[in-house]
Amino acid sequence: MTFLEEIKRRRTFGIISHPDAGKTTLTEKLLLFGGAIRVAGAVKSNKIKKTATSDFMEIERQRGISVATSVMGFEYDGYKINILDTPGHQDFQEDTFRILTAVDSVIIVIDAAKGVEPQTEKLMNVCRMRKTPVIVFINKMDRPCGDPFSLIDEIERQLKIKARPLSWPINSGPDFKGVYSIFNKSLKLFNPNIQEIEEHIKFDDISNPELEKYIGNDSRTLREELELVNGVYPDFDTKDYLSGNLAPVFFGSALYNFGVQELLDAFLKIAPPPRPSYTEEREIKPEENHFSGFVFKIHANIDPNHRSRIAFIKVCSGIFVRNNIYKHIRSGKTFRISSPTAFMASQKETIDEAFPGDIIGVPDTGNFIIGDTLTDGEDIHFKGLPSLSPELFRYVENADPMKAKQLAKGIDQLMDEGVAQLFISQFNGRKIIGTVGQLQFEVIQYRLEHEYGAKCRFETLNMYKACWIESDDKKELEEFKKRKHQKMAKDKLGRDVFMADSLFILQMAQDEFKKIRFHFTSEF
Ligand code: G4P
Repeated sequence: MTFLEEIKRRRTFGIISHPDAGKTTLTEKLLLFGGAIRVAGAVKSNKIKKTATSDFMEIERQRGISVATSVMGFEYDGYKINILDTPGHQDFQEDTFRILTAVDSVIIVIDAAKGVEPQTEKLMNVCRMRKTPVIVFINKMDRPCGDPFSLIDEIERQLKIKARPLSWPINSGPDFKGVYSIFNKSLKLFNPNIQEIEEHIKFDDISNPELEKYIGNDSRTLREELELVNGVYPDFDTKDYLSGNLAPVFFGSALYNFGVQELLDAFLKIAPPPRPSYTEEREIKPEENHFSGFVFKIHANIDPNHRSRIAFIKVCSGIFVRNNIYKHIRSGKTFRISSPTAFMASQKETIDEAFPGDIIGVPDTGNFIIGDTLTDGEDIHFKGLPSLSPELFRYVENADPMKAKQLAKGIDQLMDEGVAQLFISQFNGRKIIGTVGQLQFEVIQYRLEHEYGAKCRFETLNMYKACWIESDDKKELEEFKKRKHQKMAKDKLGRDVFMADSLFILQMAQDEFKKIRFHFTSEF
C-alpha cells in the first residue's frame, strides 16, 4: 500500500458524551464489529465518574485500565480506525479537551430520554472552536423518549450546530420498531432478542405499500414524518459536515447493538481521513514526507515498580519509523525511539512504523511534557494544546520535611502530565496549585504519596480565576503588576498570571487597564 493510501484509510476520532449516555457501550459495540474484541463486556467503562470522589483505590485501578483503553485501534473493511477514549468524569474535562486536539472527527452520544446535557455542551464548544466534524448518535431508543423533532431542535439550539437526520426512529421504548435509514434508504427492524444482526430491508420508495407488512399502522406516521424531515432539513451535504457546520444525526440503541453498524458504515463513508495540523510556523499536511507529531497525553507510573511514563504522540505527517532518530524540539535533544507501541483494542504491541492519524505510545523517563513536538529535524511547534484558566486553588505545603525533594519532583512531573497547573505567588513565594476540578487535588495528594513517597498539605485559597496577562505597553503592565502585587504569580514558564479574587475585581481590572490583555487559556 502506498503512503497516501495508508493516510486515506485512517479514521481517528473521539466519542464524547455526558456520563451515562452510553459512550462505553457504543465503543464496545464498535470494537465488536472490528473484531477487536470478541465478547461484550471486554471494554471497561471509565467508571471513575461513578465512584465516590474519595475512592482512591478505584482511581488507581482505573488508571491502569484507562491506559489500555485510551486508544483503541482496529481494522474494519479496509480502514484503520483509531478511537480515542475520553474520560467520563467532568473533573477531567481538561484531559478531554486535549484529546480532542488529536482527533479528526467526533461522534457525540446523546441519551434520547435526557437530551443534550451540560457536559456535551461544553465538549461541543471545543469541537466548534476547532471546526471538528461531528456526528450525533441518539442512543437508548429502546427506552421511552420524547418527540424526535424536539430532540433535534434541542441539539441545534444547545449545541449550536445545524443538524440533519440521516436515520429516523419508528417510535421509542416498548413500541420501538426500528429506524428508517435515510442514508442508505433501508428499513431496519428492532428486535430486542436478536442483538447481533441488523435486518436491512431495502426501501428506496417509502410509499411502497410493502411497508405496512413490516411496521403496520406506523407506516403512515413514518411517511408523514419523513416528508417533514425532508422538507424541514436541507439535504445532507458532506462539505458542510466536514467544515464542522452540520451534524448528521443517527438513532439507535447501543445496548442492543442496534443502529451501530449503520453508524459505523456511514461514518466511514463521510468522516475525514487525517486533516492538516497547525504549528506556530506553518500548516502541516499529513502527506508531507517528513515525520512530525505532538504529545497530547502523558500517562505516568502505571507500574509503581518502574518509574515509567507513556507519552502518547499523534503522528501528524510523514512516517514514524522505529529506531530512527527524532528531534525533541523543546529541548533540542535527539532521541532514538526503540520501543514505540500501538494500541490494538486493549493490547499494546510494539510497532515498526506508524502513519499520520496513528497514535503511538512512547516510553518516557521524564523528557516529554504535554504539547511537545517531535520531528525528523524541522523546528516547528504544534499549536492548540491550551491549559484552561484554573478555577480552584490551593497552596501546597510539604507535610514531610524529609521528603522535600520527592515532593518537588512529584509536583513537577504531575504538572508535566497536565494533571493541574502550578503557580508561584510573587507576593509570598508560595506554591499554588490550580485545577479545573475538585477531584484533581485528591488525585495529586494520593499520587504524590503512592508514587513519590511525598506528603503534601493543601490550604484553601478562595479565588475566582487565574488569567495570563500581557501588554505591548510595558509601563502599564508594570503599573498593573505593582498595584496588584499581592495577586501576581508566575506560571511554570515564568509568565505573568493575575489571580483575580472575584469576577467583579477582574472586570474592574479589565476596565481600568485597557491596554492589558487578559487570557483565559494558556495559549494566546
Ligand atoms: P458512558 O460510558 O457514556 O458513561 O455510559 P455507559 O456506556 O457506561 O452506559 C451507561 C448505562 O446506560 C449503562 O447501564 C448501559 O448499560 C446503559 N446503556 C447504554 N446504552 C444503552 C441503550 O441503548 N439502551 C439502554 N436501555 N441502556 C443503555 P448501567 O446499568 O449504568 O451500567 P452497567 O452495569 O450495565 O454497565
